[in-house]
Amino acid sequence: MHNKIRLNYFMLLLGMVLIASSCQREEEEEMIPIGNIPEIGALPESVLSPNENPYSNEKFELGRALFWDPILSGAKDVACVSCHHPNFGYADGRDLSSGVNGIGLGPNRVNGDVVKRNSPTILNTAFNGIDLAGNYNPDAAPMFWDNRAMGLEEQALLPILSKEEMRGSEIAEDDIVDSLIQRLNTLPAYRTLFVEAFGDATINQNRIVQAIATFQRNILANNSRFDQYMRGDLNALNNQEIEGMNTFISVGCANCHSGPMFSDFQLHTLSVPDHALVDDDGATGNFDFRTPSLRNLNLTAPYMHNGSFDNLREVLRFYNDISGGNANSQNPNVGNNQIDQDARNLRLNNGQVNEIITFLNTLNDEDFDRSIPQNVPSGLSVGGRID
Ligand code: HEC
Ligand code: HEC
Repeated sequence: MHNKIRLNYFMLLLGMVLIASSCQREEEEEMIPIGNIPEIGALPESVLSPNENPYSNEKFELGRALFWDPILSGAKDVACVSCHHPNFGYADGRDLSSGVNGIGLGPNRVNGDVVKRNSPTILNTAFNGIDLAGNYNPDAAPMFWDNRAMGLEEQALLPILSKEEMRGSEIAEDDIVDSLIQRLNTLPAYRTLFVEAFGDATINQNRIVQAIATFQRNILANNSRFDQYMRGDLNALNNQEIEGMNTFISVGCANCHSGPMFSDFQLHTLSVPDHALVDDDGATGNFDFRTPSLRNLNLTAPYMHNGSFDNLREVLRFYNDISGGNANSQNPNVGNNQIDQDARNLRLNNGQVNEIITFLNTLNDEDFDRSIPQNVPSGLSVGGRID
């Protein structure tokens, strides 16, 4: 009943907007944007760049080259794309990522150093931190499962410094950036790309991260059927999907998975089981991790910070397991009373599970840039040792 009321309220708002706009009335209260649901919303159709790093096609192309080129790794074997590949929704389809020394792509990659977390997609990371009103600051967009970097520019350096992800053990952390700059300087193709992107051939850390960030900022999947619906195309979702949306909100998922990214970008303790290969006690030692986006989930399994769950049904079973009278931690290091209060009351029946999954499937947008370059400026193998 509650769901129905919500739905009708939404339709009523929408009706008001249509009437308001058709009569050209100007009373402000009635100019409610289409699809104004209190908890969740459409993504913007375009992105903001930081003032210090405005968009240009040339910077995007340089960033794309760097993203695909293993030249940025110590042993020239790993590129960003080794773990954020378009064929895997710009993630890698693995529970934990596999870094230096690895061979192959996605779940088939072997021999790589174990990275302690699951690779999130870079799709829509431009919008990290966005609130329901659509406000966000590209300089302060929170990055990683523990929010430890702010902004795509700051983030881009960290995998390059990381021993397991890209640096390897041959070159010290303090030396890696200088040696990469030297490498790039010896390659005329890169010198040309830097001239085109920045006006002169100077290659430095700031320009490298600005170019990579510009590329990532424009890898978007922001036109899901949910977005179309919220922007006013009422036929974009069917009744079951709308029912699922109402269930998602009414049971409390949107207390944390809120706003246009379906994330409050806050840290929460849920008691996700530990992975056998790594110790990870989260952002503050409380097994707390950032609420992930729920967009494009069909591309980014397995789920959670360590890939504990293979599919959405397992995730929802987990929420059921930790809910109920006095919670029921699924991680021996987390006490029942440490579990976030909002996560303790998500006991769902089978019907609700199905409804929510039906709704989550409307958040996928398959139409994003999947292009794979023919070659990279260094002449090394495209994407690293991923074949
Ligand atoms: C070996 C695999 C691997 C490589 C190589 C790699 N990443 Fe990642 N990436 C990850 C993992 C794992 C995480 C999550 C780490 C964490 O949260 O602590 C991550 C997180 C991110 C995020 C944060 C997304 C978000 O929503 O918080 C971005 C952006 C990103 N990587 C971009 C890059 C870029 C740019 C490069 C190349 C310079 C790169 N990655 C190289 C595995 C990798
Ligand atoms: C208390 C806040 C909170 C509530 C309420 C909540 N979640 Fe989550 N959700 C999180 C956090 C935090 C994670 C990541 C946990 C981790 O990796 O350790 C997560 C992870 C997920 C994931 C995995 C996504 C991925 O990419 O790995 C899915 C799917 C998900 N939640 C769906 C739901 C649904 C559906 C509901 C409602 C039944 C819900 N969540 C309720 C905070 C919450």
